[in-house]
Amino acid sequence: MSFDGNADLSIIRVVADTEADTPIANDLAIQLGLHLDEAKSTGDDIWRLLVSSEQRTLIRPDGAKMNIDFTQGKAALRQAQPSKDQSLVRALGLHKLTEAQRHATHVIDATAGLGQDGWIIACQGCKTTLLEQSALVASMLQHAIQYAARQPALASIANKVEVINVRSQDYFTQSDSRIRPNIIYLDPMFPSKKKQAKVKKGMQFLQALLPETDNDRLLEHALDTATSRVVVKRPSGADVIAGTEHWRGQLTTVETDATRFDIYHTARQSPG
Ligand SMILES: C[S@@+](CC[C@H](N)C(=O)[O-])C[C@H]1O[C@@H](n2cnc3c(N)ncnc32)[C@H](O)[C@@H]1O
Repeated sequence: MSFDGNADLSIIRVVADTEADTPIANDLAIQLGLHLDEAKSTGDDIWRLLVSSEQRTLIRPDGAKMNIDFTQGKAALRQAQPSKDQSLVRALGLHKLTEAQRHATHVIDATAGLGQDGWIIACQGCKTTLLEQSALVASMLQHAIQYAARQPALASIANKVEVINVRSQDYFTQSDSRIRPNIIYLDPMFPSKKKQAKVKKGMQFLQALLPETDNDRLLEHALDTATSRVVVKRPSGADVIAGTEHWRGQLTTVETDATRFDIYHTARQSPG
């Protein structure tokens, strides 16, 4: 049985899309500690990770599919969207910066998931580090970034992104590799299961495969590390996340209909 964080991934088999894809599928299966299946059969309780040179596609037992692809749909058009129209960009304070300042800004997305928010950040020109505790999700994300880097129109964005498979608390506390980014972004929470109908497909996949996360002290470590701000995404109306009770600095919010971003301003005021 193989574990990814606390998740039991023994229900997932890796499958090569074509015979030519077998070597990469085999390597990935070894890397993730999963079994390689020869057949693409469905109709059982098994999830499959279909591997081709272009895509990593997760297939649920009911046949529903999910992949990460920044070259299609909204993600591919992000760089053209005005920054002031994007609530995440406003919460991160990037809309107020010049292009040169954004390029000099380092953002760590410490709960990367499917990288949708991380990609929005990278499209602003920031150096973007994506931390993801699940080896499976991190490998899908890494592949999607590498694939985007092969598209001339997206290469300059993708090349600003680094994906690291790590529990963020461990990353922030490893003193020898301690990096102080300007901004840390956290979106640790899955949407409530009660609102399942509204949850997007990608998030349903993560919710089904990944365990409740132990995010003990995540906010505290982030607050100690970011030089400018920590931004936490919350559902509208939800409480602030655990760890906020110790915070004595400035806390502001940016709100949309469904989402609230809590902004902890960590920049030290220079003495009077
Ligand atoms: C709600 S999803 C994030 C979705 C993401 N904002 C996006 O746009 O796709 C939360 C993700 O954070 C990861 N995660 C949660 N806590 C973490 C931690 N302490 N360290 C690293 N990754 C974490 C989970 O494995 C999951 O993939």
